Amino acid sequence: MENTKKILYSAVQPTNNLTIGNYLGAIKNWVNLQNEYDCFYAIANMHAITVRQNPAELRQKTLALLALYIACGVDPEKCTLYVQSHVPCHAELAWVLNTFTYVGEMERMTQFKDKSAKHADNINMGLMDYPVLMAADILLYQADVVPVGMDQRQHLEITRDIAQRFNNIYSPTFKVPEAVYQKVGAKINDLQDPVKKMSKSGENPNGAIFMTDDKDTIMRKFKRAVTDSDMQIKYDPENKPGVSNLLSIYSVFGNKTIAEAEKDFEGKGYGDFKLAVGETVANKLAPIQAEQAKLLADKAYLDEVLKNGAERAFKAARKTLSKVYKKIGFYQL
Ligand code: TYM
Repeated sequence: MENTKKILYSAVQPTNNLTIGNYLGAIKNWVNLQNEYDCFYAIANMHAITVRQNPAELRQKTLALLALYIACGVDPEKCTLYVQSHVPCHAELAWVLNTFTYVGEMERMTQFKDKSAKHADNINMGLMDYPVLMAADILLYQADVVPVGMDQRQHLEITRDIAQRFNNIYSPTFKVPEAVYQKVGAKINDLQDPVKKMSKSGENPNGAIFMTDDKDTIMRKFKRAVTDSDMQIKYDPENKPGVSNLLSIYSVFGNKTIAEAEKDFEGKGYGDFKLAVGETVANKLAPIQAEQAKLLADKAYLDEVLKNGAERAFKAARKTLSKVYKKIGFYQL
């Protein structure tokens, strides 16, 4: 039977520990969308090496990320879960797309500028080329939608530009994908500096809640979260970024609207509010952590998921790559 579902593509890098920003901005949405779309979820280890990695840790984090996807509710029976480097088409298409992308465009990417400042001793070509590899990921699968956090917006825009450029020069080859953002949760901010995005590699470890944090750590970090001096628990990101960020976290973890979240804290103080946010997050993360640990003990199962995933992904990716090679004039046997 011909598959009529639309195609969804997304990926996370297996670097550091994931934060609740990665979960709320991306993975949680993946679970909601997996019945509606034909989903490809990758572990972006080729993106990860644009910053120096410890090889043993990178291997371990690759499996840990797969286990986390599944523990969060991504179903390997419904979705294609795979490791980016297991499908060589990603590197191959990235090379072709490099010749349709301008150096100036890559130099303007804010994430490139941020990461260059942070890793000034290692501004490698891969770091600059990162968005082209990401475009290759997405375009190989003819994705209709790409659910990501707001920080990926520029990368999605350049992906669309590259696709359109190629399609205009040759003939329609790539689907031009749409980014999908969560209404609440697309940008979870740092608990210590609530106008900045919560990041896996932020300077202050108290600013991020990691998916692996235990309840004591979570409660401690929320207790120390920056708020403001006017005692009102209201959603107002402009004037009350700290409180608004906590309300967003509470509402998405608790499956409530922002208005319902505000109502829960009417007449209450910041102390009670922070405790409730911490409790809600810790209670949601505990079963995910337990399930992830259980899955990690069964390496044979995880390897099987990745093997099936790589086969399915390769089939889809190779089809697009062959089309591209034909259009650009690569002689094929
Ligand atoms: P990465 O690994 O940095 O982040 C994974 C996902 O988490 C989202 N995210 C956030 N969402 C809300 N609030 C935050 N504080 C927050 N921090 C991170 C990111 O937007 C992302 O959706 N380049 C990508 C990985 C990638 C990819 C792809 C994504 C590689 N190829 C193809 C989509 C399609 C990245 O580094 O994500």
